[in-house]
Amino acid sequence: MGFNIAIDGPAGAGKSTIAKLVAARQNCIYVDTGAMYRGLAVHFLGKQIDPSDINAVIDACRDADVSIRYEDGMQQVYLNGTNITGQLRSEEVGDMASKTSAIPEVRTKLLELQRTMAREHDVVMDGRDIGTNILPDADVKIYLTASVETRAKRRFDELQAKGQECDLTKIQEDIRARDHRDMTRETAPLKQADDAVLVDSSDMNIEEVTDAILAICADKQ
Ligand code: C5P
Repeated sequence: MGFNIAIDGPAGAGKSTIAKLVAARQNCIYVDTGAMYRGLAVHFLGKQIDPSDINAVIDACRDADVSIRYEDGMQQVYLNGTNITGQLRSEEVGDMASKTSAIPEVRTKLLELQRTMAREHDVVMDGRDIGTNILPDADVKIYLTASVETRAKRRFDELQAKGQECDLTKIQEDIRARDHRDMTRETAPLKQADDAVLVDSSDMNIEEVTDAILAICADKQ
């Protein structure tokens, strides 16, 4: 078992930005588990599956092989042998991932892949159920959150910087809906593990959050 750092929290809390920085400083690889759920979502969208048709989703899982490779230190997601990393970040894919990740068979499909990576490498793994379910014995567990308003404003600024049209109220509604789905599903819901350290980044910048997490890691090493 490598040195494992689990970072869980809701959408838009800054997990991936922070996890990448922590991984670089700790000499670990960064494992983005959301990208795996998004990879399956690309498969479901390609087959025009309705996410509310649970049997169709389960059936479609059978011919989806999601795997991970690292190229220049960046995680790449492969679906049935094709690199689909460039397709993962759209709203459509995120929405499909959010809905289908509540289905136990979808979670089981990705569980071994996640555990194997943590067994074979030192990892910073981010997601929703890493500290509670995937790596209950992780060396460090962080629950990284921020207020809905802060998360929505960050997303709004990000989209505006890319020149995309967006509506702050709609982004807030989407974030609330995703939080609700993640926190209330029966299988592996998003919640802070009993032994996780809570970091609320609402009033912290990226450097402050990274330093706070590195200090927690230093205590455990
Ligand atoms: O983090 P990201 O937005 O990329 O994740 C996409 C979706 O996958 C989330 O909305 C969440 O519902 C789901 N997810 C999950 N468990 C994880 C990681 C992501 O259920 N460990």
